[in-house]
Amino acid sequence: MTALARHDNRPIGIFDSGVGGLTVLQALIRQFPHESFIYLGDTARVPYGSKSARTVERYTIQVAQALLDRHVKLLVVACNTASALGLTALRRYCPTPAMGVIEPGCRLAATVSRNRCIGVIGTRSTIASQAYPQTLATIDGGIAVHSWACPLLVPLVEEGWYRHPATRLVVEESLREVPASGIDTLILGCTHYPLLRQVIQEVVGPEVQLVDSASAVARTLVGLPANLLFPAAVGQSQQITFLVTDVADRFREVAHHFLQDQTAVEQVEVIDL
Ligand code: DGL
Repeated sequence: MTALARHDNRPIGIFDSGVGGLTVLQALIRQFPHESFIYLGDTARVPYGSKSARTVERYTIQVAQALLDRHVKLLVVACNTASALGLTALRRYCPTPAMGVIEPGCRLAATVSRNRCIGVIGTRSTIASQAYPQTLATIDGGIAVHSWACPLLVPLVEEGWYRHPATRLVVEESLREVPASGIDTLILGCTHYPLLRQVIQEVVGPEVQLVDSASAVARTLVGLPANLLFPAAVGQSQQITFLVTDVADRFREVAHHFLQDQTAVEQVEVIDL
């Protein structure tokens, strides 16, 4: 049997601080219909976006370990904050391949930007980490980067206020520096922001292209070398398991928005880390 013909039917582990990573899960479910997934939302400790690097690093390793205990073949850190602050430590800690959302988002943005002037929005911790500008600099040292923390957007999304006038006001205020910055591409550097895509696009105008991590991660996985991710056998039925670290009801309620009503969330197991 050649290396390329090998299959690995173990699930892919994907995790986030809460529900937000379901935007990434949804993109992966669509792209890989034969792969199974275990999604873990650390709902007991969300939000990560206002916590210190040391804390997020520790949480990232604990959550990853829970997925490794369930024999995943790959770890996808769907949370931007955990990718920014915890991925380096996670890669040192575990032998299983682990990918975050920042590098895929940066690569996609660098490809679509024409004027090499890129904006990034994210949680306070993601923006303070400088992970996006540093990663963009390794891709193309000539790219100018403007970053803005938008801490008020996550709670608005979790309330389901996608088109609410208050959300529009907050987006306008958070992105007030965009017009003068000259960016032609804006990275939505937080799991929740794709749900506000429409209002963000209206506020920044049609000439600014929006890049979200969910589709960027799915594209990157497609391009992974076969010896890093042996695909599941074609025809294997897809299983999706949901785990959370605190009450499942709220997760179930919010999840259907993030999954755009396309994936049923019936069974959610509450686990201790
Ligand atoms: N998942 C987080 C992120 O993408 C947003 C929510 C949080 O602050 O934990 O940064």
